[in-house]
Amino acid sequence: MLQRRVVGVVGTGHVGVAAAYALFIKGLASELILIDRDARRAEGEAMDLMHGQSLVGSMTVRAGTYADLHNAQIVIISAGVAQRPGESRLALLHRNAEVFREIIGELDRHAPEAILIVATNPVDILTYVAQELSQRPSEHIIGTGTLLDTARFRALLGQYYGVDPRSVHAYILGEHGDSEVAIWSQVAIGGQRILNRTVLGRPFDRTRMQQLFEEARTAAYAIIDRKGYTNTAIGVVIARLVEAILDDEKSVLPVSVRLNGEYGIHNVCLSLPCVIGLRGIEGRVLPELAPDELEGLRRSAEILHQSLRELSL
Ligand code: LAC
Repeated sequence: MLQRRVVGVVGTGHVGVAAAYALFIKGLASELILIDRDARRAEGEAMDLMHGQSLVGSMTVRAGTYADLHNAQIVIISAGVAQRPGESRLALLHRNAEVFREIIGELDRHAPEAILIVATNPVDILTYVAQELSQRPSEHIIGTGTLLDTARFRALLGQYYGVDPRSVHAYILGEHGDSEVAIWSQVAIGGQRILNRTVLGRPFDRTRMQQLFEEARTAAYAIIDRKGYTNTAIGVVIARLVEAILDDEKSVLPVSVRLNGEYGIHNVCLSLPCVIGLRGIEGRVLPELAPDELEGLRRSAEILHQSLRELSL
């Protein structure tokens, strides 16, 4: 019998629903359990998804409670308040840290073995908070981190060089936020570094490249300013992580993890390229960084440490 692939989603707001929809369309789970403080909203979202089954394949989608998560391999945490126009992710800190205390207590009680994917912002801080509060190993708690920023970065670089973004080897690391760092020294297409080189007839124009990075770094503000929130890209990011875990892929993806001395950084969660498989974080890759990139990563860590101090963590 095929192993059941049960995924819980805590928080059926814009992000949670986008993640559920991406999982549904890609057929990545056999059962989706939607949990929200507004139970009727979770029921409505489950009903709406279920009605598409005959068109995309059968998957059980139902509203439930934490007690329904006892068989879940993965639980996505997308509950909390979202950024307001112009509001930084770190400004959400206190409001969402309180929400997490309740959620993590319930998940430790009802789904202690599940891998947790944290998507709520500020995601690096809340990933750390979840690891502090939960009894499960930190490697079982993954923040979506800069996987989204890296996807945006690759999409923009792909447009510039005229290639499929999947053929662009590029990472944004550090905070999923204003202090994130583009690792330009390692960006390559087909194994050819782009830094200070002409690739596919396209020059490495520093001004243009900085604009491109800024567009990726500030994308959320631009989107929120237009539609009031972001959800669809983070939804596919979450689905990508679920896929890598359930298929035990051992894929290397930039996600928010706790650093234990890497790059001289301790006791903070930020994004590094990590090996993702059935056991969550199964390894960390430490790319060689240029001096300014290392400095940027450490600045990112310090900003996050300041926020943790605000929470007395
Ligand atoms: C964004 C949110 C998920 O960057 O932080 O769109």
